[in-house]
Amino acid sequence: MATGTEPQPLTGVHDATRAAIAPRHLRTDRWWLAPAVTAAGLLAFVVYSTWRAFVNDDYYAAPYVSPFYSPCVSDNCVPMHGGPNADLIGSWWGLSPALLILIFPLAFRGTCYYYRKAYYRGFWASPPACAVAEPHKKYSGETRFPLIIQNIHRYTFYFALPVAAFLTYDAVLAYRDEHYRWGHMGLGTLIFTVNIVLIWAYTLSCHSCRHIVGGKLRHFSRHPVRYRLWGWAGKLNQHHMLLAWASLISVSLADLYVYFLATGAFDDPRFF
Ligand code: FES
Repeated sequence: MATGTEPQPLTGVHDATRAAIAPRHLRTDRWWLAPAVTAAGLLAFVVYSTWRAFVNDDYYAAPYVSPFYSPCVSDNCVPMHGGPNADLIGSWWGLSPALLILIFPLAFRGTCYYYRKAYYRGFWASPPACAVAEPHKKYSGETRFPLIIQNIHRYTFYFALPVAAFLTYDAVLAYRDEHYRWGHMGLGTLIFTVNIVLIWAYTLSCHSCRHIVGGKLRHFSRHPVRYRLWGWAGKLNQHHMLLAWASLISVSLADLYVYFLATGAFDDPRFF
């Protein structure tokens, strides 16, 4: 009768069917550098974004709205863009409005195929790098709770689309001055424009996007539009890792820029 204390069979590189190699790996290069830099970069973003999300202040400096706080949907948002905010939540919400919104892009990025690889390697050494055995005795992949939840990624993609649309709206309104007249262009306008281009490029380079536009088809020849879209998504997808980092940095810089303007650290340099 099973007692529950029997030794469990080893899996992964410790499986009996694998070659028994005594050293943990045979690599002689600095394989640890990439996961270490990745972990440091992700940690920096987590610390920064957590601080900014909870601080609930200095997120609007006309005409710029921090991307961490957009769309602002609760009653406690500061007035923005010279008009009423979309008060969808009401006055019962007393915490930072960023917490209501950031959950969607964070779920999108947190379940992203690239970021999964990045933080599995960077934080859990699972595996640390190619051809370097992971320290864990057992490996169940993403087949069990909680990692099986990663399968919601394709659904988070649908939520990422409206968030990107709102950030596009903010980037367009950044071409107005503080009196809401069109034609303003400053350093912030440039930062917001580059940021939204990178956000869309990252979003549309998603593996789920590529599957949504081109998957489950028997004949591309009968779906020329989807074939064309699939080709474009594939081209972007080749740069998914680069776009993941570029958009992560740009969205942080856009928020930091608004913070500096809102706190009066400096004025927005204007081009015209
Ligand atoms: Fe990275 Fe979808 S795979 S965002």
